[in-house]
Amino acid sequence: MSTSSPAINSLEQLQHACGSCQLCGLAASRTHVVVSRGNPEARLMLIGEGPGQMEDESGRPFVGRAGQLLDRILESVGLSSERDAYICNVVKCRPPGNRKPTKIEMAACKPWLEAQIRLVNPALIVVAGATAVEALLGIKGGITKLRGHWQERDGRRVLPVFHPSYLLRNRSSAEGSPTWHTRKDMQDVRTRLEQEGWQP
Ligand code: URA
Repeated sequence: MSTSSPAINSLEQLQHACGSCQLCGLAASRTHVVVSRGNPEARLMLIGEGPGQMEDESGRPFVGRAGQLLDRILESVGLSSERDAYICNVVKCRPPGNRKPTKIEMAACKPWLEAQIRLVNPALIVVAGATAVEALLGIKGGITKLRGHWQERDGRRVLPVFHPSYLLRNRSSAEGSPTWHTRKDMQDVRTRLEQEGWQP
C-alpha cells in the first residue's frame, strides 16, 4: 500500500471509505471504525494512537477516561475539544486489548491520516504520545524529551505532548508533573492559535 493519500476529496468520502476499510488485520475485530470527532473547520488537529474500548463501541475518538481528561485539560486553557479541535488517531480501528498498533497497521492506516490532514488543513497539530509522534514525524525517542518542543511538518507546526493515558497513570498535578507540563503545552497551543487568528 502506498503512503500517499487515496483519492478522497471530502471528509464524508473519507468516513465512508474508512467504514469499509480492510487494509489491515484490525478490521476483523472492530465494532466501529473510529474516524474523528470535533470541528473539521478547526485550526487545531489532535492525533492520538488508536481507539480503546469505549471508542470502538461508540465510533468516536477519545471518549473514554483518557479522552475525558484530555477534554478537561483543553477546557483548563479555554479550548473546547468539540469547537476548537479536530480529533483523530493514527489507526482508526482498535488494537485488541489496547496493545500498541504494529508498524504494519500504522502504515496501512497512514493514507487515511494523510487525507484527514490534507482535508482539514490545520495550522497546528498536537500529537499525543510517543507512538503517534513516531508515526507522524518519524522521530523515535522518549516523549519526556520530545514533548513541548514544536516541530514542523509540511509547513504545519506540530507539538508532541504526553498521551492522556500516561497522565491517568501519573495522577499528580504538582509543578513539574506530566499533567502540569501538559497544561503548559496546551497553554502554548492556545497562544499559537491566537496568533493564527483564533478567538475564544
Ligand atoms: N487513546 C487514543 O490514543 N485514542 C483514543 O481515541 C482513545 C484513547
